[in-house]
Amino acid sequence: MTDKVIIFDTTLRDGEQALTASLSFHEKIQIALALERLGVDIIEAGFPVSSPGDFHSVQEIAKVVKNATVCGLSRAVEADIKACADALKVADHFRIHTFISTSDVHVQKKLRKEFSDVEAMAVHAVKYARQFTDDVEFSCEDAGRTPIDNLCRMVESAIKAGATTVNIPDTVGYTLPNEFGGIISQLFNRVPNIDKAIISVHCHNDLGLAVANSMAAVQAGARQVECTVNGIGERAGNCSLEEIAMIMKTREQYLNVSTGIKHQEIARTSKLVSQLCNMPVQPNKAIVGANAFSHSSGIHQDGMLKASNTYEIMTPESVGISKTKLNLTSRSGRHVIKHRMESLGYQEGDYDLNYLYEKFLKLADKKGQVFDDDLEAILFDSQQKVVD
Ligand code: KIV
Ligand code: ZN
Repeated sequence: MTDKVIIFDTTLRDGEQALTASLSFHEKIQIALALERLGVDIIEAGFPVSSPGDFHSVQEIAKVVKNATVCGLSRAVEADIKACADALKVADHFRIHTFISTSDVHVQKKLRKEFSDVEAMAVHAVKYARQFTDDVEFSCEDAGRTPIDNLCRMVESAIKAGATTVNIPDTVGYTLPNEFGGIISQLFNRVPNIDKAIISVHCHNDLGLAVANSMAAVQAGARQVECTVNGIGERAGNCSLEEIAMIMKTREQYLNVSTGIKHQEIARTSKLVSQLCNMPVQPNKAIVGANAFSHSSGIHQDGMLKASNTYEIMTPESVGISKTKLNLTSRSGRHVIKHRMESLGYQEGDYDLNYLYEKFLKLADKKGQVFDDDLEAILFDSQQKVVD
């Protein structure tokens, strides 16, 4: 039996707040329904107190989503928490997510308070939120840079106050995987009531480590990961949902954890989010990039024609991409050209492979990638020469 890791999606909150143009109400509903179809456990739909538009979309998402818990974000103040509860109460079950900073720099410079005042605000916020729902998440903003004694103290107090999930964000993407995993291990070793709550992580990608840090935290015992589709979010973004989900799927035996993500929905959801958010996905992005399942080197292509697991650790079909692509380039061998001609409906006797390959290489040297239409044009040209 594997341990379940809860997938908390924040595409519509952390992801959306980083877009140059905000999503329309209908676009948010489309994304929420796609996330539900993808099998995420929690959808953070927005920050209801921030604007009437956000309140309305959180409320409508709470109405239409049935198979995931809908959540709203609030600072650790009553007005924010009340707005969350008002927006979400249409749902049978909902989560209020409240947060406050815990690092020295945030407490002293941003909040201009003492740590004990911040702790009191957190405790009050959690208790207040518990009046509206039994599902309350508390986040220690900038936990990654918080002195460990203070972090342990805050986590213990939040759980005592009634938090059912405690989230440990690496808000500025500063920690390294072994360091972040170490923070989670220390919490498990030092906080006496830690087993009363789910420990969650929320990692940003400023050093490109959001997925690695989230994975290290899961290996240290965290059982909720906060992430976004295509990794969108503040600055360099958040932990990418498709990457973390496919790590846990591909390495399930090794990690002994799993998620409820319906991975065949990944490509479709990624495309939708990319289009609606106007955020192109880089071609070499793991799992969902255009090149994630395409092979260019002749040696790799030869291997792929013999057995797909020579150069693929998961199938494209498993993430909803129709098939592996073998790019026709000057590195491609004759057997790949022959294979492509077969898939285009041509048998060996229909053309002269040596002639075709020679012309193909000349073209590939000139233009880089050669497409099916180019191959057929070479073939057509050679047949014309015979007729002439
Ligand atoms: O990055 C962060 O710390 C956040 C919190 C609100 C969870 O987004
Ligand atoms: Zn964040």
